[in-house]
Amino acid sequence: VNGKVVIPVIVNVLYKTAAENISDAQIQSQIDVLNKDFTATNSDFSSTPSEFAPVAANVGITFELVQIIRKSTTKTSWGTRDAMKKTKQGGLNPTSPTTNLNLWVCTIGGGILGYAQFPGGSSATDGVVIDSHYFGLSGTENYPYNLGRTATHEVGHWMNLRHIWGDASCGNDLVADTPVAKTSNFGVPVYPYVSTCLPAHNEMTMNYMDYTDDRGMCMFTNGQKSRMTALFVSGGARSAFGI
Ligand code: ARG
Ligand code: ZN
Ligand code: CA
Repeated sequence: VNGKVVIPVIVNVLYKTAAENISDAQIQSQIDVLNKDFTATNSDFSSTPSEFAPVAANVGITFELVQIIRKSTTKTSWGTRDAMKKTKQGGLNPTSPTTNLNLWVCTIGGGILGYAQFPGGSSATDGVVIDSHYFGLSGTENYPYNLGRTATHEVGHWMNLRHIWGDASCGNDLVADTPVAKTSNFGVPVYPYVSTCLPAHNEMTMNYMDYTDDRGMCMFTNGQKSRMTALFVSGGARSAFGI
């Protein structure tokens, strides 16, 4: 893995309404966001506070749209139990999931923006689900989750990243260069956001693996990059991608 990591992406669109049948342009806009965010070429990367600039990473992974599959359905919402990933349940089975990142775009419901499967799970359900209201830059997207960062966050999970607060009070995200955080942060916290986890330090609320608004997040760290790239080398959980 050295600068040549390209992930082929299959986008599975499940729609009942015309609005849910998002355009090719909207899909490409999401791929473009992923490419920027994972190569530190996003326009807001430079808003990373100088305190964190030394650990802010160019992850060096890029994404290439290889196929869009569309299916008309009768479902109003799909939930979070993987029905959208199963042709027999009205969804779409993943296409070659050991060598392609499958994205499902549909209405999830329940206020869920997206969800991902971590490495090591069943290939039949491997991939990332994003609600069509929060996918890409144009069309049906909803502020403040309108900049495509739900996919950036979920692909982070798909590449083995934990939430920055470690899903526990002052928890461990298994990444050394992300500071400990008390819990998830929302909105756009003003820097410096002093942690209540001791010893006193500032939280990295602008990390993609927090829960802030899309415009409040702009970076991964070198430690997160190491966890992600480790998947693709020989012996890694996603080494079948052959990169
Ligand atoms: N709540 C969702 C999750 O864990 C995604 C949060 C995405 N945040 C955003 N600003 N788009 O997995
Ligand atoms: Zn998450
Ligand atoms: Ca950490």
